[in-house]
Amino acid sequence: MHRILVARALYPETLARLRQHFEVDYNGDDIVFSPRELSQRLQGKAGALTTGSERIDASVLDAHPQLRVVANMAVGYNNLDIAAFDARGVLATNTPDVLTETTADFGFALMMATARRMAESEHFLRAGQWTKWRYDMFAGSDVHGATLGILGMGRIGQAIARRGALGFGMPVIYHNRSRLPADQEGPIGARYVDKATLLREADHLVLVLPYSAGSHHAIGAAELAQMKPTATLTNIARGGIVDDAALARALSERRISAAGLDVFEGEPAVNPALLDLPNVVLTPHIASATERTRRAMADLAADNLIAALAGSRPPTPVNPGVLPLAGV
Ligand code: GLV
Repeated sequence: MHRILVARALYPETLARLRQHFEVDYNGDDIVFSPRELSQRLQGKAGALTTGSERIDASVLDAHPQLRVVANMAVGYNNLDIAAFDARGVLATNTPDVLTETTADFGFALMMATARRMAESEHFLRAGQWTKWRYDMFAGSDVHGATLGILGMGRIGQAIARRGALGFGMPVIYHNRSRLPADQEGPIGARYVDKATLLREADHLVLVLPYSAGSHHAIGAAELAQMKPTATLTNIARGGIVDDAALARALSERRISAAGLDVFEGEPAVNPALLDLPNVVLTPHIASATERTRRAMADLAADNLIAALAGSRPPTPVNPGVLPLAGV
């Protein structure tokens, strides 16, 4: 029986299924391992079920040549150094598709909460400050009919675009590494633009691109300066895509109107400058967090491990070029 590490707490039902196939070392205490602890726990393991919190790079792979598969319970995999995986023939898998619509719901909700000042007004009410109606109280900006800008037009970006175009009558503009085929742009009337046009024209800009060295600080002071002063920015992608310090400055000087952030540079730490601002809605990286979707992600990560370590093609490999796995 292969030995695997389940690096974080997991649904008991998924764990029980893994235990039918593997000898499982389970981090039931849900400790966020230091790199050293992670390396210790990977001793002798053929597979690992990880989350975005565990970083697996060349040094980890070199220390554990018996490790064949890492199943990441997330669609993003910037915590895995895929070039190092490829070079060593180690398989990585992720959990796409099962979270697309749930994550798009949240991205749209966060954008709406940001535009309509929901968090700020709720704090005001809870603080007992609501004593009378006033004509301009918490007047925000409209979502319906406003221009929706999307940076990163993958599955989740397209699902957000659909919500905006079909549900809220929003003209959609987007920028992406590559332009969508016409039959995907058509139904949502999405217009491909360069990044400068996206920044300049979007009323509500939503970030849904993967994190990489190339997308680090894709939105910094220079980009924020190009946005409309009335615009909102929503980040459900990854911390590090936005320069959080530059964003805090832009928000405090009202160079853009508001932001909604589900992800942060260095999370779970949050830049203190953001915490003091009224015009930002902050959530703790929960865009895919519904009961059904998180279970589906756990199950898919388990399916990937079970298939790969049985020598079959896993459902959602990140680097299928390493298949078939030598030595499994
Ligand atoms: C969450 O951030 C994910 O990548 O699934």
